[in-house]
Amino acid sequence: MRIFLVGINGKMGKTIVATAENSGIEVAGGIDVAKDGKYPVFASAAEVGVDFDVIIDFSRPSTLPEVVALAESKRVPVVIATTGYGAEELEKIKALSEKVPVFRSANMSVGVNVVESVLPLLASALDGYDVEIVEAHHNQKADAPSGTAKQLLEAVEKGLGYDPKVINGREGNCKREKGEIGMHAIRGGTIVGEHTVIFAGEDEIIEIKHTALSRKIFAVGSLKAAEFLIGKAPGMYNMSDYLNK
Ligand SMILES: NC(=O)c1ccc[n+]([C@@H]2O[C@H](COP(=O)([O-])OP(=O)(O)OC[C@H]3O[C@@H](n4cnc5c(N)ncnc54)[C@H](O)[C@@H]3O)[C@@H](O)[C@H]2O)c1
Repeated sequence: MRIFLVGINGKMGKTIVATAENSGIEVAGGIDVAKDGKYPVFASAAEVGVDFDVIIDFSRPSTLPEVVALAESKRVPVVIATTGYGAEELEKIKALSEKVPVFRSANMSVGVNVVESVLPLLASALDGYDVEIVEAHHNQKADAPSGTAKQLLEAVEKGLGYDPKVINGREGNCKREKGEIGMHAIRGGTIVGEHTVIFAGEDEIIEIKHTALSRKIFAVGSLKAAEFLIGKAPGMYNMSDYLNK
């Protein structure tokens, strides 16, 4: 497999390069504003002069036009791991998936996706419990709450018998109301990623917590996703498609 990395010189881009090199996966190059490293780095899709089997994107939502242009011109599948997209950008990703296979997950770790799969069951069984989601990340993270926290929220919502009111942080006179879900984002140091879903009932608390100890889990997951995507029909794919393959 020959991969092309959008965001090749970022924290995740560098982790994927190292993981690929250790697994015999070829790196064709990448797109980034930071010119660095031993692989060709291009400023835009139009400049890309190398061939590859699949694109992996860990960058910023603002690079989406380049990702779309490159996938369309090369007719290759794309793994989109970048987070923080708005509704309009998500529509563009969906439109792209009508032309090429697109794998999108806000969290490429197998562990988080297993947690996600049990949350609807817990939310449904723990009827009447208050739900809060707390996430923690390093001090360079651009978006809050994290894409993973939003993904976990969606999983909880599937199991609830009601449409919750989502509150991002609390301040001042804001007593908790029934049917609220609080989302809380901690930012500091070099925390790779922690997500806790709290179900608080009368006299008991159930907490489901995932801690990423290194970025390698996301790199390995995105490379598995890339391999899974090659040869697939156009469409949207995610980690549960991969786990249930
Ligand atoms: N899905 C997952 O499992 C997962 C895991 C970790 C991080 N992420 C997401 O991946 C993204 C990248 O994370 P990171 O920690 O590597 O960030 P980072 O800031 O270290 O890296 C981003 C890279 O993209 C480049 N970039 C940004 N804007 C650009 C532009 N307009 N054109 C070209 N290059 C551009 C930057 O120069 C940088 O090298 C974030 O959105 C983060 O939330 C997802």
